[in-house]
Amino acid sequence: MVTDQPWEVPADVLVIPLAAPPAFDGPLDELDRRAGGELRSLAAFRELTGKRYETSLANSGELPAGRLLTVGIGDVATLDRESVVHVAAAAERRLGGRIVHSMAIWLTPLADAPGLDGGAALAGELVTRGVVEGSYDPKSIYRTSPDAHPGHDAAGRGDWGTISAPPLVDELILVVPGGDAAAVLAGARRGQIIGEGANLARGLANRAANDVSPVVLAEEARALAEQHGLWIDIVEPERATQLGMGMFMAIGRGSDNPPRMIVLRSGGEGERDSLDRHLALIGKGVCFDSGGISIKPSDRMEEMKMDKTGACTVIAAIATVARLAPGTPLLAVAPAVENMPGPHSTRPGDIVTAMNGKTVDITNTDAEGRLILGDAMSYAEHLGATHLVDVATLTGAVSRALGHMVTGAFGTPQDFYDQVAAAGQRAGERYWQLPLVDDYVPEMDSWYADLQNAGSSEGSLVKSALFLREFATVPWVHLDIAGTAYFRKATSFAARGATGASHATLVELALAGAR
Ligand code: BES
Ligand code: MN
Ligand code: ZN
Repeated sequence: MVTDQPWEVPADVLVIPLAAPPAFDGPLDELDRRAGGELRSLAAFRELTGKRYETSLANSGELPAGRLLTVGIGDVATLDRESVVHVAAAAERRLGGRIVHSMAIWLTPLADAPGLDGGAALAGELVTRGVVEGSYDPKSIYRTSPDAHPGHDAAGRGDWGTISAPPLVDELILVVPGGDAAAVLAGARRGQIIGEGANLARGLANRAANDVSPVVLAEEARALAEQHGLWIDIVEPERATQLGMGMFMAIGRGSDNPPRMIVLRSGGEGERDSLDRHLALIGKGVCFDSGGISIKPSDRMEEMKMDKTGACTVIAAIATVARLAPGTPLLAVAPAVENMPGPHSTRPGDIVTAMNGKTVDITNTDAEGRLILGDAMSYAEHLGATHLVDVATLTGAVSRALGHMVTGAFGTPQDFYDQVAAAGQRAGERYWQLPLVDDYVPEMDSWYADLQNAGSSEGSLVKSALFLREFATVPWVHLDIAGTAYFRKATSFAARGATGASHATLVELALAGAR
């Protein structure tokens, strides 16, 4: 963090956020003159337009920075928290495969955006988070070639032509002329930790189903618990059965990889936070969703290793909260299963008893998320939770409705929904509230049991939430991340694969109750 002018900062790369159309006045004029007019010339050539996320490398002339990287921020009036994170991530990703040890980012054009109400400290947080999130590359999980980070993994293995991962910079320099260094630094630290938490969730979610089984996910959670001083309990099938988790076990029993109900806690048992909540985050952990006996078509079935993303997200979120505000009362519950067809699988038409005593007619084994989540919600309440937020890749319908940039959300009562929505706003993540239509409840009736797990396809998105509501007796919000949890194609600001969606929201929500 430096309070010098951008033209005084030495770094391998100096990142210059540029509005559309670029206005070469004030400090940008000064910067460009010292760079030998390079930026003006590129703008005249239309290489550089300021369009949001457009990037361009430029020579730095007389500047102490080695190179310039412009990144478009588009219309400043529409710049919000999410786009600032993405602008920084786009700059970082543009440097994929390049040797960059130190990167400086001129914060002023972002900090001054009218939509950003936190000045340079907030801009520093969001930009740092964006750089950290932009550095994430899923190829680093399994590839044996040194796709990994240049200058850091120069072990001389494999084909250097494949090197493409964004650089892990040793030094990120936030350039805020005349800024409050301490405040910006504190923001940057917060942004770094939140970004690392999102990347942790992404790293787990992207891993293959033959690598991350429910048992392995539980062991990963245990390692994090030890690292961050969290209480952990891993409920195995025998105890889950004794506890009456009939819906959880109905799915869990179908695979040779046994299920685990993963429970993490920071703070004391049943302890209330400063908002008088014992908040529980509940994440769907289907390590692979084949559909079970109601088997899915094979097209894109490989994506169903991502069906554990909700669990990965809540596990990462509680670890992030433990880093930022240790001891904050918080519970994370992650039901982990593999949904498989086999001789032990639940059949369509099987009737099970949920932990809360309701009987459920399982008409479709592919509507498994709501079954394992329902019991996890009951268990969270059993452990003293007063407020529930579940996160799940629950329905294909939500991505048809809202695409991959907006998470579908439900909740009751409205004031708790609003609390979660406000956390989403602070986190720079987009949600769209959908209605819990009581008139559709009869469509979930069963001939035999209290309810069935999948009604007709009309309004199936709403019905999935209505089903979950049957298992909450306290304020509850449901976030359906099936559209936002992972990208099928890379964007300028994110790699293909898991995105970390909703991690920052959950962290902001929990931190609102920190003392
Ligand atoms: N995991 C899927 C939802 C999903 C689909 C997530 C595509 C990500 C991408 C979920 O378990 C599921 O199968 N839902 C069914 C519900 C239906 C059977 C009522 C669906 O959405 O079709
Ligand atoms: Mn399913
Ligand atoms: Zn599923």
